[in-house]
Amino acid sequence: MIRVRDLRVSYGGRVVAHVPELDLPARTVVGIAGESGSGKSQTALALMGLSEYAGARVTGSIALDGEELTTKSPSEWRRIRGRRMGMIMQSPRAALNPTMRLGAVFSRTLKLHGVGGGERASRMRSALDEVVLSPDILQRYPHQVSGGQAQRFAIALVSALRPDVIIADEPTSALDVTVQAEVIEVLRGLRDKHGTALLFISHDLAVISELADSVTVMRQGEVVESGPAGEVLRAPREPYTQALLAAVPVIGRSAS
Ligand SMILES: Nc1ncnc2c1ncn2[C@@H]1O[C@H](COP(=O)(O)OP(=O)(O)OP(=O)(O)O)[C@@H](O)[C@H]1O
Ligand SMILES: [Mg+2]
Repeated sequence: MIRVRDLRVSYGGRVVAHVPELDLPARTVVGIAGESGSGKSQTALALMGLSEYAGARVTGSIALDGEELTTKSPSEWRRIRGRRMGMIMQSPRAALNPTMRLGAVFSRTLKLHGVGGGERASRMRSALDEVVLSPDILQRYPHQVSGGQAQRFAIALVSALRPDVIIADEPTSALDVTVQAEVIEVLRGLRDKHGTALLFISHDLAVISELADSVTVMRQGEVVESGPAGEVLRAPREPYTQALLAAVPVIGRSAS
């Protein structure tokens, strides 16, 4: 599990994300909500050890099963990313090489992370099965699949490496509502089947309410409210969370 304490991400002297406390146990979904620029993606990048590449400085503690990550070298981080932690982004197609068939992308990713030739085909098949994609998709190029298929393929790529933790940054924001629901279902399945811990980032509290066990709300780089999803979404204490909630219909929240 991930345990974050007093995490600060800064550019120059400016802190763009400050998370005093965040726990992400196995088999749970933690949602991070907040308006644009509130520091959600900067938090995600820090958790994946990618802040340095963006030119940011990270202080505080990020521990994975008790192991401190903030002091890891780039090569140690490369081993952690993929096999222990995976990331799903908003536009999966942008991350796919347009000249490679999806099967080649998949095979290369598994090889890069040390999955042997004999095992690759079966891993691909079961991962595609979990995201409800037919193996035919492996013959296609990125431009030949829909946005929802591309996102489910990206999830299969990540989950085939069987990470303990998946960080998903606005994974459904570029999709229309029915396709959003499919992707949420797929993520819920991974949590249920493999016990994957999921950090689910979205500006949309309705989407977060579908999946999250606990919710952290950010604004201007600071955490303004956090707690069990039921409490935060049904009875938010902070005016900012109330305002975010008032802007969207949240499923399961009664109007009375
Ligand atoms: N390279 C950078 N240099 C300086 N500041 C940056 C840099 N990248 C991001 N920031 C700042 O970090 C803050 C938080 O940005 P972040 O991308 O985490 O927001 P977000 O909550 O993910 O927003 P969105 O919902 O739009 O994705 C913003 O104020 C942004 O201007
Ligand atoms: Mg973002």
